[in-house]
Amino acid sequence: MKPITLPRTRRQFLMQASAAGVTALAQRSLPAQMTMPKAAKPEDMLHSLQLPPFVDELPLPERLIPPHGAHAKPLRITMREIHAKVHRDVPPTRMWSYGSTPLAPLIEARSGEATQVEWINELPTKHFLPVDYSLHGCGHDVPEVRACVHLHGGRQPSADDGYPDDWFVPGKSRVCHYPLQQEAATLWYHDHAMGLNRLNIYAGLAGMCLVRDDAEEALQLPSGKYELPLTFYDRNFTNDGQLLYLVSGDPDHPWVPEFDGDAILINGKIRPFVQVEPRVYRLRMLNAANSRFFALSFADGVTAHQIGSDQGLLAAPVPMHQLNLAPAERADVLVDFSQAAGKTVHLKNAALEVLEFRVAAANASVRSFAVPTALRPVERMPESEATTTRTITLNEYLDKIGNSMLMLLNRKYWHEPVTETPKLNATEIWEFVNLTEDTHPMHLHMVRFQVIDRRLFDVFAYRNNKGLRYLREPLQPEPNEMGWKDVVQCPPGLITRIIVKFDGYAGKYLYHCHILEHESNDMMRPFEVVA
Ligand code: C2O
Ligand code: CU
Ligand code: CU
Repeated sequence: MKPITLPRTRRQFLMQASAAGVTALAQRSLPAQMTMPKAAKPEDMLHSLQLPPFVDELPLPERLIPPHGAHAKPLRITMREIHAKVHRDVPPTRMWSYGSTPLAPLIEARSGEATQVEWINELPTKHFLPVDYSLHGCGHDVPEVRACVHLHGGRQPSADDGYPDDWFVPGKSRVCHYPLQQEAATLWYHDHAMGLNRLNIYAGLAGMCLVRDDAEEALQLPSGKYELPLTFYDRNFTNDGQLLYLVSGDPDHPWVPEFDGDAILINGKIRPFVQVEPRVYRLRMLNAANSRFFALSFADGVTAHQIGSDQGLLAAPVPMHQLNLAPAERADVLVDFSQAAGKTVHLKNAALEVLEFRVAAANASVRSFAVPTALRPVERMPESEATTTRTITLNEYLDKIGNSMLMLLNRKYWHEPVTETPKLNATEIWEFVNLTEDTHPMHLHMVRFQVIDRRLFDVFAYRNNKGLRYLREPLQPEPNEMGWKDVVQCPPGLITRIIVKFDGYAGKYLYHCHILEHESNDMMRPFEVVA
Protein backbone atom coordinates (compact mmCIF):
# COMPACT_ATOMS: atom_id res chain seq x y z
CA MET A 1 0.00 0.00 0.00
CA LYS A 2 1.06 3.53 -0.60
CA PRO A 3 1.82 5.31 2.65
CA ILE A 4 -0.26 8.37 3.29
CA THR A 5 2.09 10.90 1.75
CA LEU A 6 1.42 13.75 4.11
CA PRO A 7 3.73 15.62 6.42
CA ARG A 8 5.28 13.29 8.94
CA THR A 9 6.73 14.88 12.04
CA ARG A 10 10.34 15.26 12.95
CA ARG A 11 9.87 12.69 15.68
CA GLN A 12 8.42 10.19 13.27
CA PHE A 13 11.20 10.93 10.86
CA LEU A 14 13.66 10.11 13.61
CA MET A 15 11.90 6.84 14.28
CA GLN A 16 12.07 5.87 10.62
CA ALA A 17 15.67 6.94 10.44
CA SER A 18 16.68 4.89 13.42
CA ALA A 19 14.73 1.90 12.10
CA ALA A 20 16.64 2.26 8.87
CA GLY A 21 19.93 2.34 10.69
CA VAL A 22 20.54 5.88 9.51
CA THR A 23 21.42 7.21 12.93
CA ALA A 24 24.97 6.67 14.01
CA LEU A 25 25.75 3.25 15.35
CA ALA A 26 28.26 4.42 17.90
CA GLN A 27 26.34 7.10 19.74
CA ARG A 28 22.68 7.30 19.09
CA SER A 29 21.56 10.69 20.30
CA LEU A 30 18.39 10.96 22.30
CA PRO A 31 15.63 13.34 21.24
CA ALA A 32 16.14 16.65 23.03
CA GLN A 33 13.45 16.07 25.57
CA MET A 34 14.31 12.59 26.71
CA THR A 35 16.90 11.43 29.14
CA MET A 36 17.98 8.11 30.54
CA PRO A 37 16.48 6.96 33.83
CA LYS A 38 18.71 7.82 36.79
CA ALA A 39 20.75 4.67 36.94
CA ALA A 40 21.43 4.39 33.19
CA LYS A 41 23.97 6.36 31.15
CA PRO A 42 23.93 6.58 27.33
CA GLU A 43 27.00 4.35 27.11
CA ASP A 44 25.03 1.66 28.97
CA MET A 45 22.59 1.43 26.11
CA LEU A 46 22.57 -1.57 23.84
CA HIS A 47 22.87 -0.75 20.14
CA SER A 48 20.89 -3.49 18.51
CA LEU A 49 22.34 -2.85 15.06
CA GLN A 50 25.65 -4.10 16.39
CA LEU A 51 24.09 -7.49 17.10
CA PRO A 52 24.27 -10.11 14.34
CA PRO A 53 20.80 -10.37 12.77
CA PHE A 54 18.90 -13.58 12.04
CA VAL A 55 20.57 -15.81 14.64
CA ASP A 56 17.40 -16.60 16.61
CA GLU A 57 14.53 -18.63 15.26
CA LEU A 58 11.15 -16.90 15.25
CA PRO A 59 9.19 -18.20 18.25
CA LEU A 60 5.60 -19.22 17.64
CA PRO A 61 2.94 -18.84 20.31
CA GLU A 62 1.26 -21.61 22.20
CA ARG A 63 -2.26 -21.98 20.77
CA LEU A 64 -5.15 -21.97 23.24
CA ILE A 65 -8.48 -23.22 21.97
CA PRO A 66 -11.20 -22.15 24.38
CA PRO A 67 -13.40 -24.99 25.61
CA HIS A 68 -17.02 -24.22 24.82
CA GLY A 69 -20.47 -25.31 25.86
CA ALA A 70 -22.67 -24.13 28.70
CA HIS A 71 -20.48 -25.51 31.47
CA ALA A 72 -17.09 -24.92 29.94
CA LYS A 73 -14.47 -23.69 32.37
CA PRO A 74 -12.77 -20.41 31.48
CA LEU A 75 -9.31 -20.37 29.96
CA ARG A 76 -6.84 -19.32 32.62
CA ILE A 77 -4.13 -16.89 31.65
CA THR A 78 -1.61 -15.74 34.22
CA MET A 79 0.39 -12.52 34.19
CA ARG A 80 3.81 -13.01 35.66
CA GLU A 81 7.32 -11.69 35.72
CA ILE A 82 9.72 -13.76 33.61
CA HIS A 83 13.28 -13.58 32.35
CA ALA A 84 13.82 -14.42 28.71
CA LYS A 85 16.38 -13.97 25.96
CA VAL A 86 15.55 -11.50 23.22
CA HIS A 87 18.68 -12.35 21.24
CA ARG A 88 21.40 -15.00 21.34
CA ASP A 89 24.02 -12.47 22.45
CA VAL A 90 21.95 -10.55 24.99
CA PRO A 91 21.62 -11.70 28.61
CA PRO A 92 18.09 -12.59 29.76
CA THR A 93 15.69 -9.66 30.09
CA ARG A 94 13.26 -9.14 32.90
CA MET A 95 9.75 -8.69 31.51
CA TRP A 96 6.10 -9.29 32.24
CA SER A 97 4.01 -11.64 30.17
CA TYR A 98 0.72 -13.50 29.96
CA GLY A 99 2.44 -16.81 30.54
CA SER A 100 5.88 -18.27 30.91
CA THR A 101 7.44 -17.03 27.67
CA PRO A 102 7.66 -13.49 26.22
CA LEU A 103 5.19 -14.53 23.53
CA ALA A 104 1.72 -14.63 25.07
CA PRO A 105 -0.54 -17.53 24.09
CA LEU A 106 -2.56 -17.18 20.90
CA ILE A 107 -6.26 -17.55 21.67
CA GLU A 108 -7.99 -19.25 18.75
CA ALA A 109 -11.68 -18.57 19.15
CA ARG A 110 -14.74 -19.03 16.99
CA SER A 111 -17.21 -16.43 15.96
CA GLY A 112 -20.45 -16.77 17.97
CA GLU A 113 -18.96 -19.18 20.50
CA ALA A 114 -18.81 -17.37 23.80
CA THR A 115 -15.40 -17.58 25.40
CA GLN A 116 -14.44 -16.93 28.97
CA VAL A 117 -11.02 -16.09 30.24
CA GLU A 118 -9.89 -15.88 33.82
CA TRP A 119 -7.10 -13.31 33.90
CA ILE A 120 -4.85 -13.91 36.87
CA ASN A 121 -2.50 -11.24 38.18
CA GLU A 122 0.63 -12.80 39.67
CA LEU A 123 2.86 -9.82 38.98
CA PRO A 124 5.14 -8.40 41.66
CA THR A 125 3.83 -5.47 43.69
CA LYS A 126 6.60 -3.05 42.61
CA HIS A 127 6.90 -1.78 39.06
CA PHE A 128 10.32 -1.99 37.42
CA LEU A 129 9.73 0.82 34.90
CA PRO A 130 9.53 4.58 35.64
CA VAL A 131 5.96 5.15 36.83
CA ASP A 132 4.70 8.72 36.46
CA TYR A 133 2.68 9.35 39.59
CA SER A 134 1.45 12.68 38.25
CA LEU A 135 -0.62 11.04 35.51
CA HIS A 136 -4.34 10.78 35.96
CA GLY A 137 -5.34 7.72 38.00
CA CYS A 138 -1.73 6.81 38.63
CA GLY A 139 -1.00 8.56 41.93
CA HIS A 140 0.48 7.37 45.20
CA ASP A 141 -3.06 6.74 46.41
CA VAL A 142 -3.45 3.58 44.31
CA PRO A 143 -1.39 0.37 44.42
CA GLU A 144 1.70 0.67 42.24
CA VAL A 145 1.06 -2.45 40.15
CA ARG A 146 -2.38 -2.71 38.63
CA ALA A 147 -3.55 -4.73 35.64
CA CYS A 148 -6.67 -4.73 33.55
CA VAL A 149 -7.12 -6.72 30.34
CA HIS A 150 -8.85 -5.40 27.25
CA LEU A 151 -9.69 -7.58 24.27
CA HIS A 152 -8.97 -5.08 21.50
CA GLY A 153 -11.37 -5.48 18.59
CA GLY A 154 -13.74 -7.64 20.61
CA ARG A 155 -17.39 -6.67 20.93
CA GLN A 156 -18.17 -7.35 24.56
CA PRO A 157 -20.32 -5.87 27.34
CA SER A 158 -18.78 -2.93 29.12
CA ALA A 159 -18.15 -4.93 32.32
CA ASP A 160 -15.96 -7.39 30.34
CA ASP A 161 -14.22 -4.81 28.18
CA GLY A 162 -11.37 -3.88 30.50
CA TYR A 163 -12.39 -0.36 31.44
CA PRO A 164 -9.22 1.46 32.61
CA ASP A 165 -10.54 1.85 36.15
CA ASP A 166 -11.43 -1.86 36.43
CA TRP A 167 -7.89 -2.82 37.38
CA PHE A 168 -7.00 -5.51 39.86
CA VAL A 169 -3.85 -6.01 41.87
CA PRO A 170 -1.34 -8.87 42.22
CA GLY A 171 -2.97 -11.85 43.91
CA LYS A 172 -6.35 -11.13 42.30
CA SER A 173 -8.03 -12.34 39.16
CA ARG A 174 -10.96 -11.42 36.95
CA VAL A 175 -13.20 -13.55 34.72
CA CYS A 176 -14.25 -11.89 31.47
CA HIS A 177 -16.98 -13.12 29.12
CA TYR A 178 -16.49 -12.62 25.42
CA PRO A 179 -19.63 -13.35 23.38
CA LEU A 180 -17.68 -12.92 20.10
CA GLN A 181 -20.77 -12.11 18.06
CA GLN A 182 -18.58 -10.82 15.28
CA GLU A 183 -16.84 -11.84 12.09
CA ALA A 184 -13.48 -13.57 11.77
CA ALA A 185 -10.69 -11.12 12.55
CA THR A 186 -7.30 -10.61 14.19
CA LEU A 187 -7.89 -9.32 17.70
CA TRP A 188 -5.40 -8.80 20.46
CA TYR A 189 -5.46 -8.52 24.20
CA HIS A 190 -3.40 -6.08 26.18
CA ASP A 191 -3.20 -4.22 29.44
CA HIS A 192 -5.39 -1.14 29.89
CA ALA A 193 -4.79 -0.08 33.50
CA MET A 194 -5.30 3.64 33.96
CA GLY A 195 -2.07 5.64 33.60
CA LEU A 196 0.03 2.50 33.58
CA ASN A 197 -0.68 0.56 30.41
CA ARG A 198 2.09 2.26 28.40
CA LEU A 199 4.53 0.67 30.90
CA ASN A 200 2.64 -2.60 31.35
CA ILE A 201 2.50 -3.18 27.60
CA TYR A 202 6.12 -2.13 27.27
CA ALA A 203 6.94 -4.69 29.96
CA GLY A 204 5.29 -7.29 27.73
CA LEU A 205 1.56 -7.51 28.48
CA ALA A 206 0.13 -8.09 25.00
CA GLY A 207 -1.06 -11.15 23.07
CA MET A 208 -3.03 -12.11 19.97
CA CYS A 209 -6.48 -13.63 19.56
CA LEU A 210 -7.83 -14.97 16.28
CA VAL A 211 -11.55 -15.24 15.69
CA ARG A 212 -12.50 -17.69 12.94
CA ASP A 213 -15.73 -18.29 11.10
CA ASP A 214 -17.23 -20.34 8.26
CA ALA A 215 -16.93 -17.64 5.60
CA GLU A 216 -13.21 -17.39 6.22
CA GLU A 217 -12.78 -21.17 6.30
CA ALA A 218 -14.57 -21.53 2.97
CA LEU A 219 -11.64 -19.69 1.38
CA GLN A 220 -9.26 -22.47 2.48
CA LEU A 221 -6.51 -20.03 3.26
CA PRO A 222 -3.14 -21.42 4.37
CA SER A 223 -3.55 -22.77 7.91
CA GLY A 224 -1.73 -24.70 10.60
CA LYS A 225 2.01 -24.24 10.23
CA TYR A 226 1.40 -22.16 7.12
CA GLU A 227 -0.25 -19.42 9.12
CA LEU A 228 2.25 -17.32 11.09
CA PRO A 229 1.18 -14.86 13.79
CA LEU A 230 3.68 -11.97 13.83
CA THR A 231 3.68 -9.39 16.61
CA PHE A 232 5.94 -6.38 15.96
CA TYR A 233 7.27 -3.95 18.54
CA ASP A 234 10.33 -1.96 19.51
CA ARG A 235 12.30 -1.76 22.75
CA ASN A 236 15.39 -0.13 24.25
CA PHE A 237 17.79 -2.29 26.20
CA THR A 238 20.74 -1.67 28.44
CA ASN A 239 23.98 -3.49 27.66
CA ASP A 240 23.10 -6.10 30.23
CA GLY A 241 19.85 -6.80 28.43
CA GLN A 242 17.38 -4.95 30.63
CA LEU A 243 14.42 -2.96 29.32
CA LEU A 244 15.00 0.75 29.29
CA TYR A 245 12.18 3.24 29.09
CA LEU A 246 13.26 6.84 28.69
CA VAL A 247 12.07 9.64 30.96
CA SER A 248 11.60 13.38 30.53
CA GLY A 249 14.31 14.52 32.91
CA ASP A 250 11.77 16.06 35.28
CA PRO A 251 11.62 13.64 38.22
CA ASP A 252 8.08 14.71 39.10
CA HIS A 253 6.80 14.18 35.57
CA PRO A 254 8.84 11.45 33.89
CA TRP A 255 6.22 11.02 31.13
CA VAL A 256 7.55 11.34 27.58
CA PRO A 257 5.28 12.18 24.63
CA GLU A 258 6.50 9.40 22.37
CA PHE A 259 8.67 6.38 22.57
CA ASP A 260 10.96 4.93 19.93
CA GLY A 261 12.96 1.86 20.77
CA ASP A 262 16.33 1.04 19.23
CA ALA A 263 15.61 -2.66 18.66
CA ILE A 264 12.84 -4.14 16.50
CA LEU A 265 11.41 -7.38 17.87
CA ILE A 266 9.10 -9.88 16.26
CA ASN A 267 7.41 -12.42 18.52
CA GLY A 268 9.86 -11.52 21.28
CA LYS A 269 13.16 -11.79 19.37
CA ILE A 270 15.33 -9.09 17.85
CA ARG A 271 15.42 -9.60 14.05
CA PRO A 272 14.75 -13.37 13.97
CA PHE A 273 14.63 -15.86 11.08
CA VAL A 274 12.04 -18.44 10.12
CA GLN A 275 12.23 -21.47 7.84
CA VAL A 276 9.45 -21.76 5.30
CA GLU A 277 8.47 -23.94 2.36
CA PRO A 278 8.29 -22.56 -1.18
CA ARG A 279 4.54 -21.95 -1.08
CA VAL A 280 1.96 -19.42 0.06
CA TYR A 281 1.85 -18.43 3.75
CA ARG A 282 -0.67 -16.43 5.69
CA LEU A 283 0.86 -13.80 7.99
CA ARG A 284 -1.24 -12.35 10.79
CA MET A 285 0.53 -9.10 11.63
CA LEU A 286 0.01 -6.91 14.66
CA ASN A 287 1.73 -3.67 15.61
CA ALA A 288 1.94 -3.89 19.42
CA ALA A 289 4.45 -1.03 19.80
CA ASN A 290 3.87 1.91 22.13
CA SER A 291 4.41 4.64 19.50
CA ARG A 292 6.22 3.26 16.49
CA PHE A 293 4.67 3.10 13.03
CA PHE A 294 6.00 0.24 10.93
CA ALA A 295 6.55 0.57 7.18
CA LEU A 296 6.78 -3.04 6.05
CA SER A 297 7.74 -4.37 2.67
CA PHE A 298 9.17 -7.50 1.08
CA ALA A 299 12.30 -7.56 -0.99
CA ASP A 300 11.87 -8.25 -4.70
CA GLY A 301 10.99 -11.68 -5.95
CA VAL A 302 8.09 -12.27 -3.62
CA THR A 303 4.49 -11.25 -4.12
CA ALA A 304 2.34 -10.35 -1.18
CA HIS A 305 -1.31 -9.39 -0.88
CA GLN A 306 -3.13 -7.94 2.06
CA ILE A 307 -6.40 -9.81 2.55
CA GLY A 308 -7.59 -8.42 5.86
CA SER A 309 -7.33 -5.45 8.20
CA ASP A 310 -8.26 -4.82 11.85
CA GLN A 311 -11.78 -6.23 11.79
CA GLY A 312 -11.51 -8.98 9.22
CA LEU A 313 -11.28 -9.79 5.55
CA LEU A 314 -11.20 -7.18 2.81
CA ALA A 315 -13.58 -7.54 -0.12
CA ALA A 316 -10.65 -8.38 -2.40
CA PRO A 317 -6.89 -8.80 -1.98
CA VAL A 318 -4.75 -5.65 -2.25
CA PRO A 319 -1.18 -5.98 -3.58
CA MET A 320 1.18 -5.15 -0.74
CA HIS A 321 4.04 -2.82 -1.60
CA GLN A 322 4.60 -0.89 1.57
CA LEU A 323 2.34 -1.65 4.48
CA ASN A 324 2.04 1.17 6.98
CA LEU A 325 0.98 -0.23 10.29
CA ALA A 326 0.19 2.23 13.08
CA PRO A 327 0.19 1.14 16.72
CA ALA A 328 -2.65 -1.39 17.28
CA GLU A 329 -3.40 -1.90 13.58
CA ARG A 330 -3.46 -5.42 12.16
CA ALA A 331 -2.90 -6.80 8.69
CA ASP A 332 -3.68 -10.22 7.29
CA VAL A 333 -1.27 -10.93 4.44
CA LEU A 334 -0.71 -13.75 1.95
CA VAL A 335 2.85 -14.07 0.75
CA ASP A 336 4.05 -16.43 -1.96
CA PHE A 337 7.52 -17.91 -1.51
CA SER A 338 7.20 -20.34 -4.42
CA GLN A 339 9.43 -18.22 -6.68
CA ALA A 340 12.11 -18.01 -3.99
CA ALA A 341 12.85 -21.71 -3.44
CA GLY A 342 16.30 -22.23 -1.97
CA LYS A 343 16.77 -18.51 -1.26
CA THR A 344 16.38 -16.15 1.65
CA VAL A 345 13.81 -13.38 1.57
CA HIS A 346 13.62 -10.42 3.91
CA LEU A 347 10.78 -8.47 5.38
CA LYS A 348 11.92 -4.90 5.87
CA ASN A 349 10.83 -2.06 8.09
CA ALA A 350 11.77 1.01 6.07
CA ALA A 351 15.31 0.07 4.94
CA LEU A 352 16.10 -2.33 7.78
CA GLU A 353 15.68 -6.06 7.30
CA VAL A 354 13.77 -7.24 10.35
CA LEU A 355 12.74 -10.82 9.54
CA GLU A 356 14.51 -13.41 7.41
CA PHE A 357 12.56 -16.14 5.65
CA ARG A 358 14.73 -19.13 4.71
CA VAL A 359 12.89 -20.78 1.87
CA ALA A 360 13.45 -24.51 1.41
CA ALA A 361 14.46 -25.94 -1.97
CA ALA A 362 11.72 -26.67 -4.48
CA ASN A 363 9.76 -29.78 -3.69
CA ALA A 364 7.24 -31.32 -6.04
CA SER A 365 4.85 -32.17 -3.22
CA VAL A 366 4.24 -28.55 -2.25
CA ARG A 367 0.65 -27.65 -3.04
CA SER A 368 0.16 -24.59 -5.15
CA PHE A 369 -2.35 -22.06 -3.94
CA ALA A 370 -4.05 -19.35 -5.93
CA VAL A 371 -4.88 -16.14 -4.07
CA PRO A 372 -8.69 -15.87 -4.20
CA THR A 373 -9.94 -12.89 -6.19
CA ALA A 374 -12.92 -12.25 -3.90
CA LEU A 375 -12.75 -12.61 -0.12
CA ARG A 376 -15.78 -11.36 1.76
CA PRO A 377 -18.25 -8.72 0.61
CA VAL A 378 -17.85 -5.44 2.47
CA GLU A 379 -20.84 -3.25 1.88
CA ARG A 380 -19.95 0.42 2.11
CA MET A 381 -22.13 2.23 4.62
CA PRO A 382 -23.82 5.22 2.99
CA GLU A 383 -23.30 8.52 4.77
CA SER A 384 -27.06 9.05 4.62
CA GLU A 385 -27.46 6.30 7.22
CA ALA A 386 -25.84 8.48 9.88
CA THR A 387 -28.14 10.37 12.22
CA THR A 388 -25.44 12.32 14.07
CA THR A 389 -22.07 13.81 13.19
CA ARG A 390 -19.60 14.41 15.99
CA THR A 391 -16.55 16.61 15.59
CA ILE A 392 -13.59 15.66 17.74
CA THR A 393 -10.49 17.81 17.83
CA LEU A 394 -7.06 16.32 18.53
CA ASN A 395 -5.07 18.81 20.59
CA GLU A 396 -1.51 18.98 21.82
CA TYR A 397 -0.25 21.43 24.46
CA LEU A 398 3.37 22.54 24.57
CA ASP A 399 5.42 24.19 27.30
CA LYS A 400 7.37 27.41 26.70
CA ILE A 401 10.25 25.67 24.99
CA GLY A 402 8.07 23.58 22.75
CA ASN A 403 8.00 20.33 24.69
CA SER A 404 4.79 18.41 24.59
CA MET A 405 3.03 18.41 27.94
CA LEU A 406 -0.44 17.11 27.33
CA MET A 407 -2.72 15.89 24.56
CA LEU A 408 -6.47 16.03 24.64
CA LEU A 409 -9.55 15.10 22.65
CA ASN A 410 -11.97 18.00 22.26
CA ARG A 411 -9.85 19.87 24.82
CA LYS A 412 -11.25 17.62 27.52
CA TYR A 413 -9.58 15.44 30.10
CA TRP A 414 -10.45 11.78 30.58
CA HIS A 415 -12.17 12.37 33.90
CA GLU A 416 -14.57 15.05 32.66
CA PRO A 417 -18.20 13.96 32.19
CA VAL A 418 -19.13 11.88 29.15
CA THR A 419 -19.98 14.01 26.12
CA GLU A 420 -20.38 11.33 23.44
CA THR A 421 -23.58 9.36 24.00
CA PRO A 422 -24.57 7.47 20.85
CA LYS A 423 -27.81 5.50 20.94
CA LEU A 424 -27.63 1.74 20.71
CA ASN A 425 -27.86 0.70 17.04
CA ALA A 426 -27.52 4.28 15.79
CA THR A 427 -25.14 5.09 12.95
CA GLU A 428 -22.91 8.13 13.37
CA ILE A 429 -20.14 9.94 11.55
CA TRP A 430 -17.17 10.90 13.70
CA GLU A 431 -14.73 13.40 12.26
CA PHE A 432 -11.31 13.77 13.84
CA VAL A 433 -9.90 17.26 13.36
CA ASN A 434 -6.17 16.94 13.80
CA LEU A 435 -4.68 20.22 15.08
CA THR A 436 -1.34 18.65 16.06
CA GLU A 437 1.80 17.74 14.13
CA ASP A 438 1.49 13.99 14.60
CA THR A 439 -0.45 11.19 13.01
CA HIS A 440 -2.72 9.76 15.70
CA PRO A 441 -4.11 6.24 15.36
CA MET A 442 -7.60 6.67 16.83
CA HIS A 443 -9.36 3.62 18.23
CA LEU A 444 -12.93 3.06 19.40
CA HIS A 445 -13.81 0.19 21.70
CA MET A 446 -16.73 -2.21 21.03
CA VAL A 447 -17.48 -1.14 17.44
CA ARG A 448 -16.12 -1.62 13.97
CA PHE A 449 -16.21 1.21 11.47
CA GLN A 450 -15.43 2.26 7.93
CA VAL A 451 -13.15 5.09 6.89
CA ILE A 452 -15.07 7.61 4.76
CA ASP A 453 -12.34 10.03 3.70
CA ARG A 454 -9.66 12.50 4.74
CA ARG A 455 -9.60 16.15 3.87
CA LEU A 456 -6.94 18.83 4.12
CA PHE A 457 -8.13 21.95 5.94
CA ASP A 458 -6.78 25.31 7.04
CA VAL A 459 -5.52 24.58 10.55
CA PHE A 460 -4.54 28.19 11.19
CA ALA A 461 -7.99 29.52 10.34
CA TYR A 462 -9.64 26.81 12.41
CA ARG A 463 -7.48 27.55 15.43
CA ASN A 464 -8.29 31.22 15.15
CA ASN A 465 -12.03 30.68 15.11
CA LYS A 466 -12.33 31.58 11.45
CA GLY A 467 -14.28 28.39 10.83
CA LEU A 468 -13.60 25.34 8.77
CA ARG A 469 -11.96 25.89 5.38
CA TYR A 470 -11.23 22.88 3.28
CA LEU A 471 -8.16 23.22 1.12
CA ARG A 472 -8.63 20.27 -1.23
CA GLU A 473 -11.03 17.65 -2.41
CA PRO A 474 -11.41 14.72 -0.02
CA LEU A 475 -8.88 11.87 -0.25
CA GLN A 476 -10.36 8.42 -0.55
CA PRO A 477 -9.14 5.80 1.93
CA GLU A 478 -6.26 3.60 0.80
CA PRO A 479 -7.37 0.30 -0.80
CA ASN A 480 -6.33 -1.61 2.33
CA GLU A 481 -8.53 0.69 4.43
CA MET A 482 -11.71 -0.19 2.56
CA GLY A 483 -12.64 -3.03 4.93
CA TRP A 484 -13.76 -2.96 8.55
CA LYS A 485 -11.45 -1.15 10.94
CA ASP A 486 -11.17 -0.31 14.62
CA VAL A 487 -8.11 1.95 14.38
CA VAL A 488 -7.78 4.80 11.90
CA GLN A 489 -4.69 6.87 11.16
CA CYS A 490 -5.47 10.57 11.50
CA PRO A 491 -2.65 12.52 9.84
CA PRO A 492 -1.84 16.15 10.75
CA GLY A 493 -3.71 18.91 8.98
CA LEU A 494 -6.52 16.63 7.93
CA ILE A 495 -10.02 15.85 9.00
CA THR A 496 -10.45 12.10 9.01
CA ARG A 497 -14.03 10.86 8.90
CA ILE A 498 -15.35 7.45 9.91
CA ILE A 499 -18.84 5.97 9.91
CA VAL A 500 -19.81 3.76 12.84
CA LYS A 501 -22.83 1.72 13.78
CA PHE A 502 -23.09 1.38 17.55
CA ASP A 503 -24.54 -2.10 17.61
CA GLY A 504 -23.60 -4.45 20.39
CA TYR A 505 -24.17 -3.37 23.96
CA ALA A 506 -25.28 -0.31 25.85
CA GLY A 507 -22.80 0.89 28.43
CA LYS A 508 -19.62 2.82 29.05
CA TYR A 509 -16.73 2.43 26.61
CA LEU A 510 -13.85 4.58 25.47
CA TYR A 511 -12.03 5.92 22.48
CA HIS A 512 -8.44 7.06 22.39
CA CYS A 513 -5.25 7.54 20.47
CA HIS A 514 -3.37 4.24 20.45
CA ILE A 515 0.02 5.87 20.85
CA LEU A 516 0.21 4.71 24.44
CA GLU A 517 2.10 7.77 25.63
CA HIS A 518 -0.63 10.02 24.22
CA GLU A 519 -3.41 7.85 25.60
CA SER A 520 -2.04 8.09 29.13
CA ASN A 521 -1.78 11.90 29.09
CA ASP A 522 -4.72 12.36 28.35
CA MET A 523 -5.79 11.51 24.83
CA MET A 524 -8.56 9.19 25.90
CA ARG A 525 -12.24 9.87 26.50
CA PRO A 526 -15.24 7.82 27.55
CA PHE A 527 -18.32 7.35 25.39
CA GLU A 528 -21.55 5.85 26.52
CA VAL A 529 -23.87 3.83 24.34
CA VAL A 530 -27.37 4.52 25.59
CA ALA A 531 -30.26 2.10 25.23
CU1 C2O B 1 -6.06 -1.52 22.11
CU2 C2O B 1 -8.31 0.90 24.34
O1 C2O B 1 -7.23 -0.37 23.20
CU1 CU C 1 -9.81 -1.64 22.07
CU1 CU D 1 -1.76 10.33 19.49
